[in-house]
Amino acid sequence: MKLFIETLGCAMNSRDSEHMIAELTEKEGYETTNDFREADLILINTCSVREKPVSKLFSELGVFNKKKKPDAKIGVCGCTASHLGEEIIKRAPYVNFVLGARNVSKISEVLHKDRAVEIDINYDESEFAFNDFRTSSYKAFINISIGCDKSCTYCIVPKTRGDEISIPDTLIINEAKKAVDAGAKEIFLLGQNVNNYGRRFSGEHEKVNFSELLRRLSKIEGLERIRFTSPHPFHMDDEFIEEFAKNPKICKSMHMPLQSGSSKVLKEMKRGYTKEWFLNRVEKLRKECPEVSISTDIIVAFPGESDEDFLDSLDVMRQVRFNQIFSFKYSARPETEAEHFTNTVDEEVASLRLTTLQNLHTEILDEINATSLGKTYKVYFEDLIQDYYVSGRSDDNIVIKVKGSDELLGQFRDVKITSIGRTILTGEVVA
Ligand code: 5AD
Ligand code: SF4
Repeated sequence: MKLFIETLGCAMNSRDSEHMIAELTEKEGYETTNDFREADLILINTCSVREKPVSKLFSELGVFNKKKKPDAKIGVCGCTASHLGEEIIKRAPYVNFVLGARNVSKISEVLHKDRAVEIDINYDESEFAFNDFRTSSYKAFINISIGCDKSCTYCIVPKTRGDEISIPDTLIINEAKKAVDAGAKEIFLLGQNVNNYGRRFSGEHEKVNFSELLRRLSKIEGLERIRFTSPHPFHMDDEFIEEFAKNPKICKSMHMPLQSGSSKVLKEMKRGYTKEWFLNRVEKLRKECPEVSISTDIIVAFPGESDEDFLDSLDVMRQVRFNQIFSFKYSARPETEAEHFTNTVDEEVASLRLTTLQNLHTEILDEINATSLGKTYKVYFEDLIQDYYVSGRSDDNIVIKVKGSDELLGQFRDVKITSIGRTILTGEVVA
């Protein structure tokens, strides 16, 4: 029996897909395939954070239905499953089941029911022991919490992933140890709001915050690198920044989702911080950890964003000089507060702002990258890529490739940069 799975969206979704593959291979005897035409089960693990992927879902389902094997089943999972539920089967009656982002552990169960719709966003799978499956043997994604307790006015996630519950630290440490025993030297901790870890557990649990979790994880022998995403700027207290800076196992790359540089817009978004707080946290972070690289998410044209507000976003970009940005045009989402805001920004203005922002970033990035030429980075190699190259990441999250073969996979090497590209640097191994 063959399983084809397509995964959209964030790293949490990728991990959910790994969990579903693990359950289906262990309990149901499936093996994965890259060709949906030979699959007995087709899963689409969806994202609903912006409108585009949602509208794509139905056209894709149509294609799967037409070209699949006659008795192959189709399941729609993930965030769009959570928010559309039953409607998916109404619009695409050939879909066999719908499984929400908060119900991944029920994959085997829904598989054997006819037209099952499992989308309970209060379902607590924080202590569910999933079977093992990892796409990479060099790096392990590990969930540390499920759901999100924030109420950002643009965001659908609290409606698709439910309330935030932290996973007991013993389970996380266990997962990390298992991954290290299987050869991974790096772990990647996942949660909507990682530095809010410990706010709520489902059962009795000792008080452990994110900084303490990081300290405990970093004691694992053989574990060399810890990454995480996403922290929330509001929860970046001094303890967290200091632990980040002084703990040698924590990679010096921080994602700080700004969303907007205007305090007025941030208030409308209910982000809980101001432009000044954000800049203050960046200053503290750079003071404690000068080598840190910082990435961010920015939304342009949120309802009511004036030219002046947008200039504030550009101003923060110039002051912080982010190493990487993920930038989006605001997209109204169902069941969010901002969906009802009427002061929307003109589409043309929105497009122009997005281009302006991205051009400024490219300019900054080119300047940053130019300083990398001739520098040496410690790279952890993870992937074989085209033309006999092997790629990996530096501690501060730069993607670097060198000529080489699979002997380099899972190894740390010092690499000197010989040429610069926007998304990847090229170098040669020097030690
Ligand atoms: N419109 C545009 N971008 C959004 N994001 C979340 N919701 C929306 C929306 N409604 C962006 C945010 C978030 C990233 C994952 O997606 O920047 O950090
Ligand atoms: Fe991830 Fe959010 Fe998309 Fe869900 S809606 S897959 S949480 S990015």
